[in-house]
Amino acid sequence: MRTNRDLKKWLAGSLMALSVPVVMAGEGEVTPVQVVDAIEATFGVTPAERRNHIKGTCAIGEFVGAGEAAKFSHSALFSGKPIPVVARFSLSGGNPKAPDTARSGRGMALEFKLPDSSLHHMTMLNTPVFGAAQPRTFFDLMVAMKPDPATGKPDPARIKAFKASHPDNKAQADFLSSNNPPSSYANSAYFGIHTFKFINQKDEATLVRWHFVPQDGEKQLDEPELKSAPANFLEPALIKRATQGAIKWDMIVTLGEPSDTQDNPTITWPASRKQIKAGTLSITKAMPQKGADCEKINYDPLVMGKGIAPTNDPILLFRSPAYAVSFAKRLSGQ
Ligand code: HEM
Repeated sequence: MRTNRDLKKWLAGSLMALSVPVVMAGEGEVTPVQVVDAIEATFGVTPAERRNHIKGTCAIGEFVGAGEAAKFSHSALFSGKPIPVVARFSLSGGNPKAPDTARSGRGMALEFKLPDSSLHHMTMLNTPVFGAAQPRTFFDLMVAMKPDPATGKPDPARIKAFKASHPDNKAQADFLSSNNPPSSYANSAYFGIHTFKFINQKDEATLVRWHFVPQDGEKQLDEPELKSAPANFLEPALIKRATQGAIKWDMIVTLGEPSDTQDNPTITWPASRKQIKAGTLSITKAMPQKGADCEKINYDPLVMGKGIAPTNDPILLFRSPAYAVSFAKRLSGQ
């Protein structure tokens, strides 16, 4: 039988083989392995499945870039030619049976296959900000959310203490409590949240943030729907909607100024920042994730083609090794 120590040794070996950066934890910091352990302790483990955003739906389509973005980035995304996309829509959390009415984040992950065969990923949420400025806050949230064995639910006192000691969680928590979940994946906007850099032909960098706005319009469940909607309506609705014609989102890029925060995904930029339309995403077909193209993709947000680069946002940089831990486990059937 494999012990925990065997598994950790195996995982360390796998991560080295995958060239995953080894993150050493300083005082008060956490490692990606510790964070994935904490997600597992809270949600349990469904073997061979994602540790977070476990419930999801695959889709395919294409992206066509619009001219103006090409001034800021030489990415092939903005060439104007159609770029094939493998997408995945999801609910955040590690519970495969979470109801689609849950007041949690919804995800849209995109893998673009660029003409030179390189890949570009965008892994987004339906909230304009994230609930942690540092990985430690995410870890502490997982620990606070761990169900109390006596009630099967998180202990309200622990959640209260978490909120009081982690103000960086507030903006996203406020968004989720004041916005009902979307009535369809097709009726939600999705935000890249982090700041990225667009790099142009002259090697000039522009700070950017992006979000995708649904051409079907944004729609949230109303209060009666929130109470009456079945546990699994998002997947069938998306599959059906795609049979009626392409589901489209406009990619809107916000151009930052040097004073704008680059490394804090819990803070929005001033509303006055210039925005440009950078392209249109069309989803043409959706299907259950089992055996479909998105199932075995690791939507690591640091997989980027030329012309777009990361910033030093500590959450963005932490996601890559955390996703690799989850990916290595699920690929090996754990
Ligand atoms: C400390 C911060 C975070 C941690 C530890 C974390 C952890 C994870 C893990 C372990 C997975 C599953 C990976 C896999 O097995 O493929 C995942 C998936 C996902 N995460 Fe995060 N995440 C973090 C922040 C974020 C942020 C900031 C966003 C959005 C901007 C985000 C959006 C998503 C989405 C959409 C998925 C599902 C991707 C898919 O469909 O495969 N996460 N996350």
